[in-house]
Amino acid sequence: TVQRTLSIVKPDAVAKNVIGKIYTRFEDAGLKIVAAQMRQLSQAEAEGFYEVHKDRPFFKDLVSFMISGPVMIQVLEGEDAILKNRELMGATDPKKAAPGTIRHDFAESIDANAVHGSDAPETAAREIAYFFPALAIHSR
Ligand code: CMP
Repeated sequence: TVQRTLSIVKPDAVAKNVIGKIYTRFEDAGLKIVAAQMRQLSQAEAEGFYEVHKDRPFFKDLVSFMISGPVMIQVLEGEDAILKNRELMGATDPKKAAPGTIRHDFAESIDANAVHGSDAPETAAREIAYFFPALAIHSR
């Protein structure tokens, strides 16, 4: 099934100047970038985006990290895009991520872990709508 997923290149990877290298991973795996925007998130936007984690002990650090610099936000489209993107990213903790995955190759810590990707169809729909109006998605 062709799916869409929401991807974020986090402040650590933007600062390391590896947006292009990460985009190449997506493209080489057959995922198409159908919308993109570079943004400095406000605290309220970051808190709203990560609302499901609001009671977790790492929430405050996660939000501060996500607003520490610009992020690159994109919609990826392709066959099994949600799972494919999660395979490309690797484990949430870069220390546990397999060699060749984005987090293994570009990330340092569980907060500064280079990329975010939606984990299921329902979250993908919510996360895409959070950042992109339907008109900003260029599927064809
Ligand atoms: P992300 O995919 O953006 O979703 C939530 C983020 O919280 C996650 O990546 C990590 O960067 C961060 N995080 C920090 N600590 C943890 C933890 N113990 N478990 C899961 N996510 C964590």
